[in-house]
Amino acid sequence: MTMTSSRPLRPDELPATKLAPGEAALALGDAFDALPLLTEGSVDLVITSPPYWGLRTYNLEHDDTVLERWLDQGGELGLTPDYAWYRENGGLLGMEPHPEWYVEHLAELLDLAHGPLTPRGSLWVNIGDTYFARWSSIRAKGRQGLGETARTRRRTPSGGWRHDKQLLLLPARLAIALQNRGWILRNDVIWSKPHVAPRPERDRLRLSHEHLFHFVKRRPNRRPEYFYDLDAVEPGARDVVSVGVKSGGNGHSATFPEELVRPRIASSSPPAGLVVDPFCGTGSTLKVATELGRRALGVELSPSFAGAVARDLAENTPGITASPVSIGHYVRL
Ligand SMILES: C[S@@+](CC[C@H](N)C(=O)[O-])C[C@H]1O[C@@H](n2cnc3c(N)ncnc32)[C@H](O)[C@@H]1O
Repeated sequence: MTMTSSRPLRPDELPATKLAPGEAALALGDAFDALPLLTEGSVDLVITSPPYWGLRTYNLEHDDTVLERWLDQGGELGLTPDYAWYRENGGLLGMEPHPEWYVEHLAELLDLAHGPLTPRGSLWVNIGDTYFARWSSIRAKGRQGLGETARTRRRTPSGGWRHDKQLLLLPARLAIALQNRGWILRNDVIWSKPHVAPRPERDRLRLSHEHLFHFVKRRPNRRPEYFYDLDAVEPGARDVVSVGVKSGGNGHSATFPEELVRPRIASSSPPAGLVVDPFCGTGSTLKVATELGRRALGVELSPSFAGAVARDLAENTPGITASPVSIGHYVRL
């Protein structure tokens, strides 16, 4: 892994500031570096699907000795290093040795959306759950429920509630971590997947849902107030939606189905509003947001995904300015 270290961008250098309605731009780099660059109060909606725990690397590099380094440097087993330390020591988001580290890091990263969001803004997070296994399979790519792809095995230390066969409740733990950081949770939408691949286990049901959490900002001594257009959601306005899982393009199969993301963007951002996806993958959010006449900014750490998104957007959407802009420091090449 190579780190390039250069001058961080100023907020006015991020492409989001120059977008017209219906236009998208892409920043190549870590969400941890990108979110603080966004101007305070400039973003209407952050909507994203971050890497899930212990499932895949997206072909990005991760150093499995990070736990040993933590302990060698005097870190304690029950404590979590912050994301900056973890990354500097070779860690990749989603590949944390302990699920507790993952929840903390994800909450730390998503909390960086608080400043850039307008007081009436929303944060929507899609996350799925995982079973604990001392020996787990890591894939380079692939979404839960979409069948098998090539995998490697890694050993994860058990202890406490980290026990073989345990459903980890990671979505609930993340939601609580964000509530503890001051966010107000408005909905836990269940994304029900009508078709999931058969599983070899004979002692449990198949996981066939994920969560979509809707968070808004707290207002001192007042009830939260935020943009919401109930006419733009699915018929019946219920918190369970059934949408099939789809393989994404560009070798990336953990994609947001457009039918899932469209009602969220349409209902939670005003016309021409700025929508940001800090883990943008194949760019489904950018595509839907621009179709809805919003301005859209994606952030993606993988240069190959970022390049593919930029090409797709430029080819398929007239008037789009989608050349990836490197965030500068800490780009993994
Ligand atoms: C679950 S996928 C997102 C899928 C996306 N919603 C779509 O529809 O294609 C998560 C993405 O986050 C990227 N990623 C991982 N760590 C990142 C980080 N620290 N900052 C930004 N992107 C990251 C991965 O390369 C992957 O493309």
